[in-house]
Amino acid sequence: MLGKHSKVCFGASLGALVLSVILAAWGFPKIVDKQIQKNIQIDNSSKMFEKWRVLPMPLQFKITMFNVTNVEEINKGRRPQLAEVGPFVYKEYRERTILGYGENDTVKYMLKKTFIFDAEASAPLTEDDVVTVINFSYMAALLTVNDMMPSLIPTLNKGFEELYSGLTDAFMTVKVRDLLFDGIYLNCVGNQSSLGLICAQIKADMPPTMRLAEDGNGFYFSMFSHLNTTPTGPYDMVRGTEDITELGHIVGYKDKNRMSAWGSDPYCGKLNGSDGSIFPPIDEKNVPARLYTFQPDICRSIYISFVEKTSIFNMSAYYYELSESAFAAKSANPNNRCFCKKNWSANHDGCLLMGLLNLMPCQKAPAIVSMPHFYLASEELLDYFNSGINPDKEKHSTYIYIEPITGVVLKGVQRLQFNVELRQMNIPQLEKVPTGLFPLLWIEESAVIPEHLQAELRESHSLLGYVEIVRWGLVAVAIAALAISAYLVTKTGALPICPRNNNTVSFVLRPAPNGIEVNKG
Ligand SMILES: *[C@@H]1O[C@H](CO)[C@@H](O)[C@H](O)[C@H]1NC(C)=O
Ligand SMILES: *[C@@H]1O[C@H](CO)[C@@H](O)[C@H](O)[C@H]1NC(C)=O
Ligand SMILES: *[C@@H]1O[C@H](CO)[C@@H](O)[C@H](O)[C@H]1NC(C)=O
Ligand SMILES: *[C@@H]1O[C@H](CO)[C@@H](O)[C@H](O)[C@H]1NC(C)=O
Ligand SMILES: *[C@@H]1O[C@H](CO)[C@@H](O)[C@H](O)[C@H]1NC(C)=O
Ligand SMILES: *[C@@H]1O[C@H](CO)[C@@H](O)[C@H](O)[C@H]1NC(C)=O
Ligand SMILES: *[C@@H]1O[C@H](CO)[C@@H](O)[C@H](O)[C@H]1NC(C)=O
Ligand SMILES: *[C@@H]1O[C@H](CO)[C@@H](O)[C@H](O)[C@H]1NC(C)=O
Repeated sequence: MLGKHSKVCFGASLGALVLSVILAAWGFPKIVDKQIQKNIQIDNSSKMFEKWRVLPMPLQFKITMFNVTNVEEINKGRRPQLAEVGPFVYKEYRERTILGYGENDTVKYMLKKTFIFDAEASAPLTEDDVVTVINFSYMAALLTVNDMMPSLIPTLNKGFEELYSGLTDAFMTVKVRDLLFDGIYLNCVGNQSSLGLICAQIKADMPPTMRLAEDGNGFYFSMFSHLNTTPTGPYDMVRGTEDITELGHIVGYKDKNRMSAWGSDPYCGKLNGSDGSIFPPIDEKNVPARLYTFQPDICRSIYISFVEKTSIFNMSAYYYELSESAFAAKSANPNNRCFCKKNWSANHDGCLLMGLLNLMPCQKAPAIVSMPHFYLASEELLDYFNSGINPDKEKHSTYIYIEPITGVVLKGVQRLQFNVELRQMNIPQLEKVPTGLFPLLWIEESAVIPEHLQAELRESHSLLGYVEIVRWGLVAVAIAALAISAYLVTKTGALPICPRNNNTVSFVLRPAPNGIEVNKG
């Protein structure tokens, strides 16, 4: 009778062991993963949802201008000498408006950014500071016309001279505030017939950097006002409620599933990856070598490459960085050939040097983007300058730290420089200037997870630590119970631990001579 009892108990502990091993190896991780997924998926029941919809903290948007300090000399054909002025710091607020939930586990939303000047962080600089920079819209217009009908340039330039009243060279001296957000007025009222032509062309193209003036007689040009408070999208994003590894993937932009700017090529126009704000958790057994983000401002997806596992804010993190191959020339990365566009310049095949991307197909303006100071770009570009351009990994790279369990971005910095070609042409303003790629400014958009969210994450980590302890503790207890029952089964006569008596330790140390007594106690 007693022997049978202990055998039953042995069987039960064996069962318990098998069960706890299954739980520990498979069940617990599943439960934990499910719980994490519930917290990060894009659903109004998830913890992350509101933080994703309205960013709890503004991003930092910094702009650094390239002040041209030797205009007179450049006009005589000397190499440019630049001095950085900046950063001008803005707070960038982001808010999403949910339009609805679509097929295939997607959410459709509009994204609104609002920029507010941060006087404190910018000090001693102010938005009223005056800089001398390349006249971006002037060069852009001339280059566009030059590519279409070079013979028209002298006539059209007469029109430009009126449009931009008092045109003496390719540079302008402006208030930072006007260039960035408020706008520089372009007058369309004049007697030159070509002026009407130019204004009609601007009206037809309506590049995002131009907006119609209130009086209807002209336009305002500014670099970033179109980004400010105008919602962009709609975006279609995977919510990750079905497959968490797809979380955050953009599958549609403006109701299309690819960008048409780059022609029909399947590679360049592909929408790949997230919008950069949200990533799926990183599978530590299969760390992705690249993370993709889709950037509507440059009409393409780019990727950052895995560098190392590290730690930041006392949390383990995966560090990814933009690598050379992302903006590589066709020769270095043949896939990139579809970013080459003919007609950009008569004297080459439309492919740019290493580290450059032509924005013409995307923004309808002959702007060219690169990393700040031509970091990771062809060294040829640096020869054009007398001084002021010094690429530096620390200051100019783009990178991100990701917390692997939730995919939360702990810190991210993205940087981009806008350039335009300064080209010698047969008009008084450009007769002698040296031809080359001229930088206007560079931007840095950065985010750091705020303290209280860091604490929240660390807390959930320690909670996961406890779950881990419980998980293996369960197995340990089951093994111990099994060992004891086995011992008892071999030493018949002793009573098993299972019935009511939970004083197992003293039981093991001093086995009771009589099982019935113990059972009674
Ligand atoms: C939450 O999302 C579901 C769709 O997933 C929707 O039907 C429901 O109305 C939403 N609730 C609120 C309060 O927005
Ligand atoms: C930009 O350069 C000009 C000419 O060198 C100089 O007078 C001006 O003060 C500079 N602007 C700023 C904001 O440093
Ligand atoms: C959803 O997925 C199916 C199968 O992959 C596809 O045929 C369909 O077009 C998708 N729907 C949308 C709206 O993308
Ligand atoms: C560029 O635009 C400004 C602002 O309207 C104008 O004053 C300036 O003359 C232009 N630059 C050139 C080419 O001189
Ligand atoms: C246009 O031409 C008339 C005379 O033909 C002249 O009086 C007027 O000042 C001109 N306007 C401008 C903006 O040049
Ligand atoms: C898109 O992502 C896939 C991997 O997910 C990659 O193989 C492909 O090259 C990417 N395409 C572009 C244009 O980035
Ligand atoms: C990291 O942990 C150490 C010791 O636990 C602590 O002294 C330090 O302040 C922590 N750093 C941060 C950024 O929380
Ligand atoms: C390039 O220019 C030619 C005429 O010079 C024109 O026919 C063609 O459409 C242009 N291609 C693009 C992509 O703009």
